Amino acid sequence: MIGRKRIWKPVGFVDYSSLLLSVVNNVERRLMSTCRAVVVPRFGGPEVLEVRQNVGIPDLGASEVLVRTFAVGINPLDCRMRSGYGRSLFEPLLPLILGRDISGEVAAVGSSVRQLHVGQEVFGALHPTAIRGTYSDYAILSEEELAPKPPSLTHVEASAIPFAALTAWRALKSTARINSGQSLLVIGGGGAVGLSAIQLSVVAGCRVASTCGKVSIDRVMAAGAEQAVDYTSQDLKAELKGQFDAVLDTIGVPETEALGIGLLKRGGHYMTLQGEAVSLTDKYGLLAGGAAAAVVLSKKQVQYRQSHGVNYSWTIMRTDSEALEEIARLSKVGKLKIPVGKTFPMTEAAEAHRVRESKVLRGKVVLQIE
Ligand SMILES: NC(=O)c1ccc[n+]([C@@H]2O[C@H](COP(=O)([O-])OP(=O)(O)OC[C@H]3O[C@@H](n4cnc5c(N)ncnc54)[C@H](OP(=O)(O)O)[C@@H]3O)[C@@H](O)[C@H]2O)c1
Repeated sequence: MIGRKRIWKPVGFVDYSSLLLSVVNNVERRLMSTCRAVVVPRFGGPEVLEVRQNVGIPDLGASEVLVRTFAVGINPLDCRMRSGYGRSLFEPLLPLILGRDISGEVAAVGSSVRQLHVGQEVFGALHPTAIRGTYSDYAILSEEELAPKPPSLTHVEASAIPFAALTAWRALKSTARINSGQSLLVIGGGGAVGLSAIQLSVVAGCRVASTCGKVSIDRVMAAGAEQAVDYTSQDLKAELKGQFDAVLDTIGVPETEALGIGLLKRGGHYMTLQGEAVSLTDKYGLLAGGAAAAVVLSKKQVQYRQSHGVNYSWTIMRTDSEALEEIARLSKVGKLKIPVGKTFPMTEAAEAHRVRESKVLRGKVVLQIE
């Protein structure tokens, strides 16, 4: 783990500060057994979102951290989950608390948490399948899912970053393993994951081209892309000159898939954010759907290896503490920024979802917890 030192103490050493901390934690936990949260009691439009008082806060596991929430970045996944995406997993668990991203302050820590302490400002993101989300006065994340918030960022700014940046990281660093001198195409560079991917690639020494809306061209170029092409343009393939080592497709429709695959060098990586695992498990159930997804994926992998000599994969965000620490470092020095379009109080979560889904607004929509 980068920048986190383990402190070893001799056997029999009485650590009064830890003792005091655990007493404070216990008192705080007893005072906070419930809190306010935005819940989804049934799947549907933004109107199903309900602000509820007295929502239970589960006991902390040993490696977990209770975070007092200050800001929550809204991700497309939140809106999709609200509408029923992932119902095969989440339906039996309704009412659900949405939300992956968070920025806030540590309120209590589990018994084996060593690197974070009460009162510390932190940010981070939950895994896509986490059950209890962050649209809540208090959220629970594992220590691995959090990092100290860069002091130069506000909570609102910080909460816009982790989920999108960790998704881009997963594709570029874990799957494609991008290296200095390589070239990358980001399809949909104007969104949060796309902008993260452009900035992370530039830091890694790659050359980046991107497709985006006309309105996003300046933003994509400012993020470090060498070329930004309007996705409504007549001949995208001709305009995106050259061949790429990796393509991150944030849109993942047949047209963008064909474009990305056709522009890859042999041995390159095509990575889509729109894998079919969840839609197939929603359609056929967890077991049959999981099996169907494995078949669809391997068929495509074989097909594209044979037809174009390229690697095909579905990217799924994964929490990664080392990646989050590096994302924090890059954000601190201004090399990774996700613009925020508008903030709403948590009580207006339904309106925040409406605005997010209207697609009129540029930048991230963030809930602020009063
Ligand atoms: N698999 C995973 O684990 C994972 C994780 C995170 C996100 N996702 C998915 O990835 C997608 C992007 O997420 P995000 O957070 O970046 O969303 P976002 O911030 O809302 O960005 C979406 C962007 O897509 C652009 N766009 C729409 N149609 C396009 C096209 N035909 N060509 C190029 N760009 C197009 C829009 O660009 P303009 O504004 O320039 O028009 C918009 O900015 C969402 O569908 C989300 O659900 C998946």
